[in-house]
Formats: sequence, structure tokens, C-alpha cells
Amino acid sequence: MTPVLRPMTVDDVDEVMKLERELFPTDAWTEGMLRDELAQPDRYYLVAQDPDGPIVGYAGLRAVPPEGDVQTMAVAPDRWGRGIGGTLLAALLDEARRRGVGAVFLEVRSDNPRAQELYRRFGFVEIGMRPGYYVGADAVVMRRLEPFEEER
Ligand SMILES: CC(C)(COP(=O)(O)OP(=O)(O)OC[C@H]1O[C@@H](n2cnc3c(N)ncnc32)[C@H](O)[C@@H]1OP(=O)(O)O)[C@@H](O)C(=O)NCCC(=O)NCCS
Repeated sequence: MTPVLRPMTVDDVDEVMKLERELFPTDAWTEGMLRDELAQPDRYYLVAQDPDGPIVGYAGLRAVPPEGDVQTMAVAPDRWGRGIGGTLLAALLDEARRRGVGAVFLEVRSDNPRAQELYRRFGFVEIGMRPGYYVGADAVVMRRLEPFEEER
């Protein structure tokens, strides 16, 4: 089944939080953090949902031109490897471009090669480390520049 992307609303919070706790067992956001994110106009949150079915993924962007951040991204484990993560990320990057963001940053756990590989595939490069940023792991800081930013 191919999920469709749509904006996340507060009505999705309970379902998204179930995935959040499953996918980030040591670093899960609280429900309050997610609600705060959804309330801010410079954020852009999407869910991937099976037609008439469950939410199977979600992702969020902070866009404050000229910079933006991938705030979070997750896909239900039984649906990994089928392009849902890539589809979510592509949609965030399209929105970043629309909002005039030239440089998108993110942090990813150093022990999460799967996510790092996905980000590399989309043109993110490692620009630094944040030791001890997560419970039990460092953060790899990555950045993706739009072509017009690379020419500066
Ligand atoms: C990281 C994560 C979001 C990736 O989601 P995903 O839906 O599996 O991502 P994709 O399917 O788009 O891409 C992942 C891999 O599947 C492969 N893939 C994509 N479509 C495919 C298809 N139709 N058939 C087979 N493989 C496919 C991709 O090539 C990619 O492989 P690669 O990483 O070796 O290049 C997911 O693993 C996850 O939720 N992890 C836990 C939470 C997490 O780590 N989030 C990121 C925090 S920074």
C-alpha cells in the first residue's frame, strides 16, 4: 500500500507519539514538545498515512530563511526500505526551498548509519560532531546547501 503525505495536525499527536516512543526509545520527544512544534508557524510537519489506514511515518522542518533544520523523521519499522523516508525528506526539502531556505541542517545519532546514508543520498554532508548530544551517542551534524548557496 502506498501512503499519502499530508500536513500533521494536533489530532494526529496520539498516533504519532506511539511511533515516536517506539522509534526513539532513549530520545523520544514528549507530547508537549510535539504540540509546541505544531503551534509554530515556521514549522512544517507531515505525516505519511495509508489510505483509510494508520500513520506510517512523519517528519518535521523548521524553516527560518536562509536556514532550516530537519527536526525529526521516522517511519514505522515494518515499512522501512520502501522509500517512505525518502519521500518525506524530499517533501521537506521542497518546502524549505519554497520558503527561501538555502541551507538545511540536521543532527543524527552517530550510531544510526541507516539514517545517515539516507541523508547523504539527498546531498547532506557531515560538517561536525556534538559529543554526548544524545543519550549514549554523539550527534553527527549534517548540512545540505541549495546550489545557489554553494556558489557563494
Ligand atoms: C531512517 C528512516 C526514517 C528511513 O526510513 P525508510 O522509509 O526506511 O527510508 P527509505 O526507504 O526512503 O530509504 C532507506 C533505504 O531503503 C532503500 N529503498 C528505498 N526504496 C526502496 C524500495 N522500493 N525497495 C527497496 N529498497 C528501497 C533506500 O535505497 C535506502 O537504502 P540506503 O539507506 O542503503 O540508501 C527509518 O529507518 C527510521 O524511522 N529509523 C528510526 C528513526 C530514525 O532513525 N530517524 C532519523 C532520526 S535523525
